[in-house]
Amino acid sequence: MPYARISGTGFYVPPRVVTNDDLVRIGIDTTHEWVVQRTGIEQRRYADEGVGTSDLALPAARDAIARAGLRPSDLDLIVFATLSPEMAFPGSGVLLQQKLGMCDGDDAKLCGAMDIRNQCSGFLYALKVASSAVKAGEARHVLVVGAETHSAAMDLSTQGRTVSMLFGDGAGAVVVSASEEPGGILGTWLGADGRFAEILCQRVWDIRKRPFIPLDEHGVGQVQPSHMWAQMEGRTVFKHAVEKMCLALMQACWATGTDPKDIDLFCFHQANMRINQYVANTLGLPEDKVLHNIQRYGNTTAATIPILLAEAERDGRLKRGMRVAMVAFGSGFTWGSSLVDW
Ligand code: UT7
Repeated sequence: MPYARISGTGFYVPPRVVTNDDLVRIGIDTTHEWVVQRTGIEQRRYADEGVGTSDLALPAARDAIARAGLRPSDLDLIVFATLSPEMAFPGSGVLLQQKLGMCDGDDAKLCGAMDIRNQCSGFLYALKVASSAVKAGEARHVLVVGAETHSAAMDLSTQGRTVSMLFGDGAGAVVVSASEEPGGILGTWLGADGRFAEILCQRVWDIRKRPFIPLDEHGVGQVQPSHMWAQMEGRTVFKHAVEKMCLALMQACWATGTDPKDIDLFCFHQANMRINQYVANTLGLPEDKVLHNIQRYGNTTAATIPILLAEAERDGRLKRGMRVAMVAFGSGFTWGSSLVDW
């Protein structure tokens, strides 16, 4: 059975920086101090109108593929994690495949392309699919992407402040490749609890209704604000996040016989710096091993972990031979952990 290694990483964030003070300037009743104190977020990036999620994913994917020493035509599968795809269907995976130039010409490669809809845990769910395909010998190289365009779908008024201050746009990507060398992705452990599906959700429509979006007298669909914007019971999410993230990390350690002290780097989903500090304190993890970039990007949902990995590789904090733990929790509720020998 081949091993599944992460052979390349990439990331991209759009250039437009939006600070907490910028949110105040557009009329949201908040303060820089409130947002930093509760979340650690200082700024985030917003994509310009006209830019889609697969557009953000494209440079991240190209970067990861090039760093793996590959071309797009070497890929056997694309797994695209996002909660903000360009359209309801098809998913962003096929759009990315086309933008990578894989659909025509001498270099065409009409490999499978799928979307994963698991929100903040989406990258780890996607990693599970990719590493399983590689370990089963069904794929040699799989592109795994986490990308989000949140800025198009946020209530940028005071009413929506609890949610909108948290999120930003961005994309991260890794290539998972078959290898004979032991190590790589040691395992990925997933969990979900559907009793909490509506604690953090964005409805947009109700498929039980006819039509599924109410129409006005001109036949134009009218989406109510409560359906248009993400709804969240923040305190409930926070409480479950710390509990499930601790358990998910311990599950990965038990399954592999790893002492948490032997983990070199912790890449946690970036939802709130306080959540990650709470997890680190509870488990006694040294602060200098826990990566944060939420200050600069906010919560980019499926993109947070691959962006962290790519940045850490570039700034030298993530080196070959290290044991890396990844943990995520989010809407669903869903969660996951993964241990990787880099
Ligand atoms: O990726 C996974 C998904 N999300 C998460 O993991 C988020 C988890 N939850 C959280 O991180 C926290 O619940 C938040 C940071 C979102 C909110 O912090 P909190 O301490 O739970 O605040 P709260 O929602 O209980 O609100 C406390 C007060 C309220 O005012 P009153 O009712 O006490 O007068 C809010 O209206 O803070 C107010 N508030 C704000 N004030 C200034 C809420 N948002 C803001 C804001 N600026 N942006």
